[in-house]
Amino acid sequence: MIKIVITEKKVDSKDLNSSKIPHHVAIIMDGNGRWAELNGNDRIFGHRKGVEAVRSVVEGAGEIGIHYLTLYAFSTENWNRPREEVNALMGLLVHAILAETENLNKNNVSLRAIGDLKSMPAEVQENLAAAIAKTANNSGLRLVLALSYSGRWELVEAVKNMADELKNDKIDKSSINEELIGKYLPTFGLPDPELLIRTGGEFRVSNFLLWQIAYTELFFSQKLWPDYRKEDLFEAVNDFQKRERRFGKTSEQIRI
Ligand code: IPE
Ligand code: IPE
Ligand code: MG
Repeated sequence: MIKIVITEKKVDSKDLNSSKIPHHVAIIMDGNGRWAELNGNDRIFGHRKGVEAVRSVVEGAGEIGIHYLTLYAFSTENWNRPREEVNALMGLLVHAILAETENLNKNNVSLRAIGDLKSMPAEVQENLAAAIAKTANNSGLRLVLALSYSGRWELVEAVKNMADELKNDKIDKSSINEELIGKYLPTFGLPDPELLIRTGGEFRVSNFLLWQIAYTELFFSQKLWPDYRKEDLFEAVNDFQKRERRFGKTSEQIRI
C-alpha cells in the first residue's frame, strides 16, 4: 500500500509580522466530543484532552505578544447537555484551574472570566476567584475564560442595566449610542477581538461575543480542539496578517 503524506509547512512564530499581531484573539474551542469518539473514548476524555490544547495556545499567544485571549469554554446553551457531561465539565474546570494556576504565574498570564458566573457551581466560583486573585499582578497575556456565557445573555444584561438607569434618570435616551451600550455590557473594558478562531469544522458563531465581533476577522479550522496547538494559532494569525480590513471603505482609501 502506498501511503501519501502531505506535509504542510508549519507557521513558526518568527514568520509572523510582529507589528501586526492582533491585540485580542477569541477562540471557540470546539470538537472535544468528536475527538473522543474518533479515539474510541467518552466525551469527557475529549474535554480532558482539550486542556493540553489550552496550555499550548496560551503559551503561544504569550510568545507572539497577543494581549487578550478569550476562550469560549462553556456557553449558556451548554447547560442543556446531559447532566453527567455538565457535571464532569464543571469538575474538570475546577481541576484545570487548580492545576494550571502555577503555570499561568510562570508565564506571567493574568486570568479573568466573563459570563453568568453566578450560575456556576460554588466550587467553580471559589476556585476561579482564587486563581484570578493569584494571577492579578501578572503583566503579560490576559486570559479570559467565557463561562456560562452567550452574546445574547450579555446583551440582555446590558439592556436591563440601562433600563434601570433610564428609570432613575441617571441617563437620558438622547445619550444612548454605541459607546454607551458598550459601557453597559458585562464585558466592558475588553477590546473587540480582531480575530475569532473556531476549531472543529463548524461555520457558526454559536452565540459568542455577538456585539464585539461586528468587524472581527473569522478563521475556521478543521482541527478538533484537542489536536489544536500554538502552531495552529500562528497559522491563523499569519492568515489574519494577509487580510485587508476595510471597515466599509474601499481598498484605495485603506492603502493611502
Ligand atoms: C467543545 O467541544 C467544548 C464545549 C462546548 C464545552 P464539544 O463538546 O462541543 O465537542 P463536539 O462539538 O461535540 O465534538
Ligand atoms: C460552542 O460549541 C460553545 C463552546 C465552545 C463553549 P458548541 O459545540 O456548544 O456549539 P454548537 O452547539 O455546535 O453550535
Ligand atoms: Mg461542539
